[in-house]
Amino acid sequence: MRVYGFVYLLFTAVARAYVVNEGTTCEIYPEVLSHNGAAVDDAPSIHQAFELCGINGTVVFTNGTFNVNSVLNTTNLINCDVKLRGELRFSTNIPYWRSHVFPVIYQNQSTAWLFGGTNVTLRGEEGGWINGNGQAWYTENRNQSNQPGRPISITFFNATNLVADGLRIIQPQFWATFVWQSKNVSLTNLFVNATSNDEWGTVNTDGYDSWRSDTLLVENATIINGDDCVAAKGNTTNLLVRNVTCYRSSGMTIGSIGQYPEWPDYVQNVTFDNIKCINSMEGAYIKTWSGVPVSQDKNGDYGGGGKGLVKNVTFSNMEMVNVALPIQISQCIYAEDNGKYCNTSQLQIEDVSWVNITGTSTYNIAASMYCSEASPCPGIRFDNVSLQSVNHTLGLPLWNTTLQDEVFQCDNLIDQNSTGVLCNHVAPDNYSQGVSENVQ
Ligand SMILES: *[C@@H]1O[C@H](CO)[C@@H](O)[C@H](O)[C@H]1NC(C)=O
Ligand SMILES: *[C@@H]1O[C@H](CO)[C@@H](O)[C@H](O)[C@H]1NC(C)=O
Ligand SMILES: *[C@@H]1O[C@H](CO)[C@@H](O)[C@H](O)[C@H]1NC(C)=O
Ligand SMILES: *[C@@H]1O[C@H](CO)[C@@H](O)[C@H](O)[C@H]1NC(C)=O
Ligand SMILES: *[C@@H]1O[C@H](CO)[C@@H](O)[C@H](O)[C@H]1NC(C)=O
Ligand SMILES: *[C@@H]1O[C@H](CO)[C@@H](O)[C@H](O)[C@H]1NC(C)=O
Ligand SMILES: *[C@@H]1O[C@H](CO)[C@@H](O)[C@H](O)[C@H]1NC(C)=O
Ligand SMILES: *[C@@H]1O[C@H](CO)[C@@H](O)[C@H](O)[C@H]1NC(C)=O
Ligand SMILES: *[C@@H]1O[C@H](CO)[C@@H](O)[C@H](O)[C@H]1NC(C)=O
Ligand SMILES: *[C@@H]1O[C@H](CO)[C@@H](O)[C@H](O)[C@H]1NC(C)=O
Ligand SMILES: *[C@@H]1O[C@H](CO)[C@@H](O)[C@H](O)[C@H]1NC(C)=O
Ligand SMILES: *[C@@H]1O[C@H](CO)[C@@H](O)[C@H](O)[C@H]1NC(C)=O
Repeated sequence: MRVYGFVYLLFTAVARAYVVNEGTTCEIYPEVLSHNGAAVDDAPSIHQAFELCGINGTVVFTNGTFNVNSVLNTTNLINCDVKLRGELRFSTNIPYWRSHVFPVIYQNQSTAWLFGGTNVTLRGEEGGWINGNGQAWYTENRNQSNQPGRPISITFFNATNLVADGLRIIQPQFWATFVWQSKNVSLTNLFVNATSNDEWGTVNTDGYDSWRSDTLLVENATIINGDDCVAAKGNTTNLLVRNVTCYRSSGMTIGSIGQYPEWPDYVQNVTFDNIKCINSMEGAYIKTWSGVPVSQDKNGDYGGGGKGLVKNVTFSNMEMVNVALPIQISQCIYAEDNGKYCNTSQLQIEDVSWVNITGTSTYNIAASMYCSEASPCPGIRFDNVSLQSVNHTLGLPLWNTTLQDEVFQCDNLIDQNSTGVLCNHVAPDNYSQGVSENVQ
């Protein structure tokens, strides 16, 4: 850079001014600047910058609006620092994305951006942000579940030693972030806001998901969305999630797991600490498919029969504010069968603690812990779990129930090594995710 004492400019094409390469640094300028504001695709210059500076270099998205009209593949970076100072605005050409997105294997999902490499940083700076333009997807999706080709905003793939700091993802198309086949990846100071501005909701806008990855950190995040806030999926190990505030969302999750018989899911050494869930469906929960495969034709929504192990998971220092179902284990989360297969999951769950869980539930239920008969759960611990329904704290009556105290439902917990779990009711076998009224 400066030490080389010279500057040279590299113009990709006459009309495209827009990768400026100085030493090992590539600055990208948006095409709109030379096209009278037209939404010309910036993906080619973005790829060019990473080709020039993706190894032992720095890539800077300068302040401005970048139109991302086509898929981004910025993988295999080495010793590369990326600074995002502008807006990355994904286009809303749904037919284009559906036919060009990159598959991520898991659940037949896909992504608009693959990002990875070794010794890499990606930093949002000076207000830089990712605009998923997800409204088009929310409206088109009309509250359905998964759909083929609806892309994850950014997938950290095949990464080792990667830090993504200060990312702000507004209206992600689908999940905001996904960590796949990676090791030692930290997402710090993350902000996600998936809010719909019409009558259709933001189904499947998870804040963070991880799969087949080890040694992971999520620290200092604020996530406003319509699905899992942070979810550890199969083969997530040594994940620490710390200081995260979730609005709406479905809270902190292990799962869904047990979907694929051919890929057993091992999830071990996971800590969620210092978490706040506000106006959520769920708070701290573990969800598995049942032991019998179900067949559905919706994208990714079929499966079950998968085995595996969830072991050594701690949910600690969590504040619940108006959470429908603050604590849950379900081993038949997709209870399409209405409970018929709820006792069949052979996915073992053990050694899970909920410590210092305080605040309010929306209804009169604090916890529903349903382990399957085929694999009962040992080592389930509650320590200082203190929840009250919102109405209770306001001194109001609870509607449609005679149970005025918090309900803790249990089924197939093994006493051995379990402590502190107050079980005052039997867990029903047909719960899906969340509840929507007081329980009887
Ligand atoms: C990158 O830097 C490393 C260590 O300084 C060096 O070994 C390697 O050759 C460099 N690679 C390239 C493509 O410049
Ligand atoms: C970035 O651009 C925005 C919009 O043009 C402007 O308001 C802001 O001041 C710029 N920031 C910097 C650091 O130049
Ligand atoms: C992404 O680019 C790399 C080259 O860096 C290539 O090897 C890989 O196949 C591409 N991935 C996809 C999904 O196209
Ligand atoms: C990544 O960084 C580590 C620690 O600085 C270094 O030992 C390693 O060689 C780097 N990897 C590559 C591929 O440059
Ligand atoms: C994954 O990263 C390794 C280097 O860590 C590289 O050798 C390999 O080609 C990458 N695989 C893919 C599919 O990009
Ligand atoms: C999230 O987005 C919605 C809709 O744009 C907006 O009203 C709300 O203020 C945003 N929340 C935050 C904390 O930025
Ligand atoms: C927690 O994260 C928020 C950002 O979501 C940050 O503002 C706050 O300072 C962090 N608190 C601690 C104690 O790290
Ligand atoms: C989290 O936020 C706190 C308070 O702003 C800060 O001290 C800490 O360094 C942040 N952690 C990370 C990993 O950025
Ligand atoms: C998890 O890892 C084990 C090997 O340790 C493997 O057999 C299994 O298929 C993996 N599962 C997934 C979901 O990748
Ligand atoms: C869990 O953590 C312990 C202690 O750090 C470690 O020995 C063990 O290998 C970890 N398990 C996995 C599956 O990574
Ligand atoms: C459980 O996981 C935590 C990290 O979440 C780790 O510190 C601890 O050593 C693990 N315990 C065992 C017995 O592996
Ligand atoms: C639970 O809260 C108590 C009292 O604030 C604290 O001493 C203890 O360390 C907390 N436990 C965990 C696991 O954080």
